[in-house]
This record gives sequence, structure tokens and C-alpha cells, in this order.
Amino acid sequence: MSQLQEQINRVKETALEELAVVTDLTGLDEWRIKFLGKKGELTGFLRSMGAVSAEERPAVGQAVNAAKVALESAVDERAVVLKEAAIESNLASDRVDVTLPGRPVTPGYIHIINKTLRDITESFTAMGFQVYEGPEVELDYYNFELLNMPPGHPARSMHDTFYFSESTLLRTHTSPNQIRVAEKLQPPIRIIVPGKCYRSEATDATHEFMFYQCELMVVDKNVTLADLRGTLADFARRLFGQERKVRFRCDYFPYVEPGVDLSIDCGVCKGVGCRSCKYTGWLEIMGAGMIHPQVLRNVGIDPEVYSGYAAGMGPERISMLKYGIDDIRQFYRNDLRFLSQFA
Ligand code: PHE
Repeated sequence: MSQLQEQINRVKETALEELAVVTDLTGLDEWRIKFLGKKGELTGFLRSMGAVSAEERPAVGQAVNAAKVALESAVDERAVVLKEAAIESNLASDRVDVTLPGRPVTPGYIHIINKTLRDITESFTAMGFQVYEGPEVELDYYNFELLNMPPGHPARSMHDTFYFSESTLLRTHTSPNQIRVAEKLQPPIRIIVPGKCYRSEATDATHEFMFYQCELMVVDKNVTLADLRGTLADFARRLFGQERKVRFRCDYFPYVEPGVDLSIDCGVCKGVGCRSCKYTGWLEIMGAGMIHPQVLRNVGIDPEVYSGYAAGMGPERISMLKYGIDDIRQFYRNDLRFLSQFA
């Protein structure tokens, strides 16, 4: 055997010895580069073939190739073993103990006002009403003017309004949506519009500067005060209980004629009179009325053909009456001790 062949054998032996002690895949790559790479030790023999005599060349070539094949198959085998070992050790170190107790997940819950809004909405959608929404930044024109409250109208002073400019404001009630929806739809209209309203008021137990309202509007042929009474009385009993008494009284809102307010008998004293109902036996829950003919004309609906009613209620007040809450500010303090009671 030539000296060269011996050298080749020696490199092969060293390579196999080193391969046996490689412990991971990075080590394997380094080994591959060292022996089989382009500048590797075994490849080095092929590059120096030019210096080998012609008769020796085939034997040397064969020896290099045989060594190469032997090393390649050795390294492939080793790779399989090391890959398996790597997977095993990953599995071992990432092991999850499925018998450990899990971390508890605290489920969220619906805010009490949203819950009341949903209850209100469901009552009316069950009766065939559609739900609409309108903008909180509103035009004076919709919030007041088209609702029969031109500039200087005394009823405007009942609304302490946040103005952005002379013509834009934060809506003080959801009634402007009567106009917005009626401008878009043709009768028959049966809608409710829930949403936030704002009034520039000092807050106290019964007043917030931000609160919700839910507007109600029906326009069709032959809609009468009897429809208003029937629908709203049914709604009030669905929400507060079938046994409750319902009372309608005259009230004034510039955009309805006649205007009414709706009360239910006090749940605390059962109508006898107590502090909650200010000794009247009744709790007011909404304002309502037959839509004023001028308001219908304002949106291009002929009051000779169509009539309708509208109502507006405050979910905060309804929640307070329903759950016996005595301070409206509780709703928006984000005190979880309060809010989680309604979870
Ligand atoms: N918009 C009135 C309020 O804010 C409620 C209302 C709505 C009254 C519709 C009559 C008709 O108090």
C-alpha cells in the first residue's frame, strides 16, 4: 500500500474516531466541514492528485472515494442517532405535567347598563322593532330645531348642552334619531335607538353628565295613543314583572302631542308611599307621546296619512329601579365590587 493510501486510511480512522465523540448536531456539521467539506481533509487528497504519478492515480482515487463513501454513510447514521437524541431531550425538557391543576380563568361579564340595554332591546325586537344607532356628536338642527325647539325655545333650557360650536353639540337625548331614521326610512317604521347622551350637569345621585337613553319610534297608518299605551305597558311589565301596575300621565315634550310619562308602581312599598318613590307610590320610567304633526312634516311624512308615537327612557334609571341602586354615579366608577354583583 502506498504512503498516500496509508495517509488516506489514517484520515479516515481519525475521522471515525472523532465522529464517535460528536454529541450534537452542531458538532456534526463542524465534523462534516472538517473532513468532507470543500476544504476538508479528505477532499484535500483529491485536490493534490495532480502530483500523484499516473500509475498510482487510479488506486489513490479509489481509496479517497471509498473513504468518502464510508465517512458519508457513517455520518448519516450518526445524524439519525443524534436527531433522535435531540428530540428526546427536547421532549424531556419541555415536558408538561398534565396532572398539575390549571390556572383559573376569570370570565368577564356584561356591564349592568349593557345588560339592561340588552333586556330593553330584546323586549322590543321581540315585538318586531329594528335597532338603529346614530352619532353622539350631533347637529343643533337635529337635536333641537327639527324637534320643534327653534333657537330661543324655552324647552332648550331643560337640556344643559355641551356645544362644540353654534351648530354642533353632544346630543342631549336620543330623540334626534327620530329625525335621522325617519329621513331615511319610509313608514311603516318601528325602531329603537340606544346610545350615549351628554348633559353639562353637576353630577349627583340622580344626574350624570354622560348617560344612556333608548329612543323608540313607531310611524304607520292609524297608529293611536292606544297603541302607545299597549306597547309601553307590555314592555314595562316584561321588564319589571307582570304583576306591576302601570300609569300614564300627561307630560310636555315639544316634539309630541299629546305627551305622556309612564310610571310603574313602587316596588319597595307596593304603591303605598315611601322614600324611594318620594311618597307618591309611583316611579317614572320614561317620557313618550304621539309624534307632533310638525315633526312628521319636517321629515317629509304626511301627518294626514301617517301618525306615530315616540318614547325615550334611561337605562340607568331603569337599572336603579330594577336593582335598588341609589346612586347613578356607581355605574361609571368602575368599582368591581359594585359591578361584579351583577355578573
Ligand atoms: N327625549 C326625551 C328626554 O330626553 C324623552 C322622550 C322621547 C319624550 C320621545 C317623548 C318622546 O327626556
